[in-house]
Amino acid sequence: HDSRISGIKSALRVIPHFPKPGIMFQDITTLLLDPKAFKDTIDLFVERYKHENISVIAGIEARGFIFGPPIALAIGAKFVPLRKPKKLPGEVISEKYILEYGSDCIEMHVGAVKFGDRALVVDDLIATGGTLCAAMNLLERAGAEVVECACVIEVPDLKGRERLRSHGKPLYVLVESQLEPTL
Ligand code: PRP
Ligand code: MG
Repeated sequence: HDSRISGIKSALRVIPHFPKPGIMFQDITTLLLDPKAFKDTIDLFVERYKHENISVIAGIEARGFIFGPPIALAIGAKFVPLRKPKKLPGEVISEKYILEYGSDCIEMHVGAVKFGDRALVVDDLIATGGTLCAAMNLLERAGAEVVECACVIEVPDLKGRERLRSHGKPLYVLVESQLEPTL
């Protein structure tokens, strides 16, 4: 186990009952306040992916926009934002997905990804995996090959990893979600 992981874990903050009662919110903003832990986070992803011929980092709005671009710059890949509806100005393809209550949608610019691109999907956290599966669908519809999905945090009880596996794709995470509030 990499010694940097424990520093990353202790730089994350866990806030109970946000945004709803019963939710243990896994807050990455405190990680961003710790330059060593933030750099270690990016370095761990870069070390894993730098020799994988990844040509696209697809980052999911909003928090995938924090971790995706530094990885893309370090490995020499293009960065493609996957955005909430009606934010992108050009022609888009959209992918709807079901949430616990209601549905959501993400969009990508047509032409951002080419047939044969090798894509890594980046986000801060995987819960049910619904968002990452929608992202993979978008990329695959555009002709890209999704190599893997990478997140800082996994909420294991919500079975997102299994959902990705049924999509045929692996998941790489740095830490599991913490069950107790931080002090
Ligand atoms: C959170 C998180 C992931 C997603 C994970 O984003 O940042 O993107 O939920 O959930 P899932 O695995 O069940 O799909 P959120 O929708 O809260 O939006 P934000 O990143 O824009 O704050
Ligand atoms: Mg998000």
